[in-house]
Amino acid sequence: MVNKKYEPLLETFELPNGTVLKNRVVMAPMTNFSSNADGTVSDAEVSYYVRRSKGVSMVITACTYVTANGQGFPGEFGAHTDEMIPSLRHLASSIKEAGAKAILQIFHGGRQVPADIVNGDVVSASNIPDEAEGKPVPRALTEAEVESIIRDFGEATRRAIEAGYDGVEIHGANTYLIQQFFSPHSNRRTDRFGGSLQKRLTFPLAIVDEVQRVVKEYAKVPFIVGYRFSPEEPETPGITMSDTLVLIDELANKNLDYLHVSLMDFWSTPRRGVDDTRSRIEIIQEAVGDRVPVIGVGSIYSAEDARKALTSGIPMIGLARELLIDPDWVQKIEQGREEEIVTKLNVDKQQELDMPTPLWQAIVNAPGWVPGV
Ligand SMILES: Cc1cc2nc3c(=O)[nH]c(=O)nc-3n(C[C@H](O)[C@H](O)[C@H](O)COP(=O)(O)O)c2cc1C
Repeated sequence: MVNKKYEPLLETFELPNGTVLKNRVVMAPMTNFSSNADGTVSDAEVSYYVRRSKGVSMVITACTYVTANGQGFPGEFGAHTDEMIPSLRHLASSIKEAGAKAILQIFHGGRQVPADIVNGDVVSASNIPDEAEGKPVPRALTEAEVESIIRDFGEATRRAIEAGYDGVEIHGANTYLIQQFFSPHSNRRTDRFGGSLQKRLTFPLAIVDEVQRVVKEYAKVPFIVGYRFSPEEPETPGITMSDTLVLIDELANKNLDYLHVSLMDFWSTPRRGVDDTRSRIEIIQEAVGDRVPVIGVGSIYSAEDARKALTSGIPMIGLARELLIDPDWVQKIEQGREEEIVTKLNVDKQQELDMPTPLWQAIVNAPGWVPGV
């Protein structure tokens, strides 16, 4: 029996396109470094997803690159050619058969792409390196190349539709190419893609338009389109909370099915840009109102953390590390066993947790990334 307190987490939710989600908990996207070298999904990876698709209402996959020079990590699966469609379909149907909606997260890594993946030709909005990450100087994309990448997002969306996904999430967060264009730090362009705040919005909004155009043209059943963003950057100049309020105001008028905030701590407060002591998530929820549903995320380990998160007014929460640690997180709440939710990784249980080895190694070699390590 479900504990009454936690019933709100298990209520259904209807997205603007009419898709009904079975509950309020989604799996947040996580790169797993475990795809095959040819860009197809691996068996270990599929098994890892299936194990985590049985309780949540929606699984957002690891980010997948829309073009070869956008691959951000080794062991990442691709959505950049039609040859990838059978692999994409295999993952979508596995997630759906396990009971969740399948959402493909689509991205381009921009200046975060490792140089060896692209023979040294790392590209971005401008030739500004990410010094904090020790990255090399990228090459500024030409206008024609920018336009081609916008179309690549559309092509990846068409492949997601053909492969049977329920939707795509445009990855505009975590300092990858879309964010690089929105950021006054990494975008120093003087053409129509850079300069004023409004011009820095050109690339992200053009991608939304192109993805939606493709959905209109190819999808025969309702297809979810979400957008993920990071609200702030530490650099000066850099994205501030006030810039983000402009971005989300534009996005909220685009008929998207959800906005997904990328945060490590759900209740974190703004660094700068607004005179407001509330959490970022509350400010964002208030700004978008009922125009588009918001997914919040970040260190929601226990059922109680999740219940409190919903009191911020957002309708849905995302779990990432928590589902690595405990793939049965949602089922335990459904069964009134929320006290048994595990909140620290048991480092002896790789097999029981169905974790592909490259992901497991990335975690155990980076103490502090996932609790328990
Ligand atoms: C192993 C790992 C890989 C991640 N990969 C992605 C990714 O591909 N795309 C993305 O938007 N966020 C990615 N994230 C961020 C998560 O989606 C999430 O925002 C973050 O982990 C905070 O949520 P949590 O506290 O529930 O883990 C990743 C996080 C982890 C731990």
